[in-house]
Amino acid sequence: MLRLGVDYYPEHWSREIWESDVREMAHIGINTVRIGEFSWGILEPDDGVFRFEWLDEIIEIFARHRIDIILGTPTNCAPLWLYRKHPETLQVGRDGKRTEPGIRGHRCMTSRVFRRYAERIIREMLKRYANHPSILAWQTDNEPEGNHCCCESCTDSFRTFVSNRYESLSELNRKWGTDVWSGTYRTWEEIRPPLGADYEYNWLNPSYLLDYERWAAASSADFLRFQADLIRESNPETVITVNACFAANMPDYHLIYKDFDVASYDNYPEVRIPEDQGNVYSQAFALDVARGRKRKNFWVLEQLAGPKGCWSPMTPTPLPGMMKGYAWQAIARGADMILFFRWRSAARGAEMFWHGLFEGEKPEGRRYEEFKEFLRETRAWDKLFGTELKSKVAVLYSYEQNRAFRIQGQSEGFSYEDQARLMHDGLMAMGVNVDVISEKEELDSYQVIMAPGLFIADASLAGRLETFVRKGGILLLGNRSGVKDLFNARRLDPLPGVFRSICGCSVDEYDPIGKGTQRLRFADGETFSVTSWCDILKTEGATALATYEDSFYAGSPAITENLLGNGRCYYLGTVGDRSLYRYLARLMLDRAGIERFELPYGVELSVRENERTRYALIFNNTDGDQVFVLEQKKISLRPFEVRIVEGFD
Ligand code: GLA
Ligand code: ZN
Repeated sequence: MLRLGVDYYPEHWSREIWESDVREMAHIGINTVRIGEFSWGILEPDDGVFRFEWLDEIIEIFARHRIDIILGTPTNCAPLWLYRKHPETLQVGRDGKRTEPGIRGHRCMTSRVFRRYAERIIREMLKRYANHPSILAWQTDNEPEGNHCCCESCTDSFRTFVSNRYESLSELNRKWGTDVWSGTYRTWEEIRPPLGADYEYNWLNPSYLLDYERWAAASSADFLRFQADLIRESNPETVITVNACFAANMPDYHLIYKDFDVASYDNYPEVRIPEDQGNVYSQAFALDVARGRKRKNFWVLEQLAGPKGCWSPMTPTPLPGMMKGYAWQAIARGADMILFFRWRSAARGAEMFWHGLFEGEKPEGRRYEEFKEFLRETRAWDKLFGTELKSKVAVLYSYEQNRAFRIQGQSEGFSYEDQARLMHDGLMAMGVNVDVISEKEELDSYQVIMAPGLFIADASLAGRLETFVRKGGILLLGNRSGVKDLFNARRLDPLPGVFRSICGCSVDEYDPIGKGTQRLRFADGETFSVTSWCDILKTEGATALATYEDSFYAGSPAITENLLGNGRCYYLGTVGDRSLYRYLARLMLDRAGIERFELPYGVELSVRENERTRYALIFNNTDGDQVFVLEQKKISLRPFEVRIVEGFD
């Protein structure tokens, strides 16, 4: 069944209201809650002193009302006594100083001492609840970030990580190019995490930095795996997940979820309607990223329930229909669970203005009514459970490329992520299901792939893409592909390096125009304004699809098309606005013979299916009415409304 419910913090409320809260939850149709993820200080008020009575009690209340539970391990914030006794369990920042406790997320992920205490509290939880019939799943920690702790233990861990990657220190020196600026390491001890101010970061050796970011990701994954192993030891059948966010300091969730059963996502869409409709598909992108992390349906463990705020000024309140619409949108993109964050707005603590479903003691009000309506609507569509999105189209987007581009920005305003979003946006506007996956994934099940810069690349990646194209695939490769080897050093062969023969073109020269603009023209006369980056291309078997109009390279190819085996490879030497990507999406889908629908901008169409039926979910992600024709049928949608068409073909 579709899992619907809330995040709940019983430890913040008096016991007198637990029963009536849970009774109300059951009454309105909630079947799942998440609890516990920050409660260590209450579960273990002093070293080795455990107080589980309250958790036993609330779990029994939920069990009695037949509401299932996702139980969070509480490692994101340990009790203050632990930090006092063992200050080495606190992270050290890039300034070399130990973090002050008081907020959260300040645990050192590699500290042996921290892990010993974490293991003890997790085992205490498992002893009681590992086989409890109401525990549906476990969440490990909370929104883990990449581990950028610079303490001694993390320094050791980073050193071990790099020493396992290279045969010897001299190989490491060679691959990283440490001859530059007298950076040669003579002993492993000289290798440390990057200390210093943020503005100095980009002056550091990029090869070293990329390995550091790889370590930060692997280190978070290891911390979560350590927890998952403990849980599995007590109950091999249980489901293990962790809630991901979409933020700058994200770890590599592809890596993390390898060992996990389900990918989860915390879904806080923008509540301000962008004036230029600029980011209208941005939320769909984040949800497709969430689904792509395990390439299957995912869970939303936190869903927008009101105005956001606290450490930043509050956002506007969601418009009527918006909360419900955004929850449906997540289901449309593959969510099988939606838990709203949170049941009741907090009365105390730093997050009292990150709003829950209602404000006072009693559940009521506009947002609460809308939530109940969402529960009523979803009840009729429980048959969506067991359906999934099948996609012939993918956008490649990965942690590693992202990090490499962050380490070395390419031109003013150049953004790898924006290019991935633009490619996704173009495909969304054509009404096709889009997967967003890492380039390390299997690619053969797709017919169309768009890849923003594959900056870090080797022959094996090129080989996989070549096979994809030769077998009939249609590939679009973005600018800045094939620039670096796996060690984040520049290759010397002409660009796009390892992709040159697939593209049938090479980069003669490039112009990092940054915020400047250029124009390009297609053979059919269509012109587009472009920006950020211009590769001046030379065809080597490919044909020029579009050429530049301005500057000294007017007339030179900007986009090429190469026929290879049964497929085609397009190379995009520049960055356009969304109209260019729509043009390219249309072209590529037609070449692949994939059915497309031209939807009004802001309308999203996805198809969830099982062996028997296909369900089209059509969502109006705008604050205006939309009327259009889809498969000869007139469809009108109110703002943020979703329509489900059963038996869509
Ligand atoms: C994140 C966290 C939650 C809470 C919300 C709202 O998603 O996981 O604990 O802090 O943000 O701020
Ligand atoms: Zn550390």
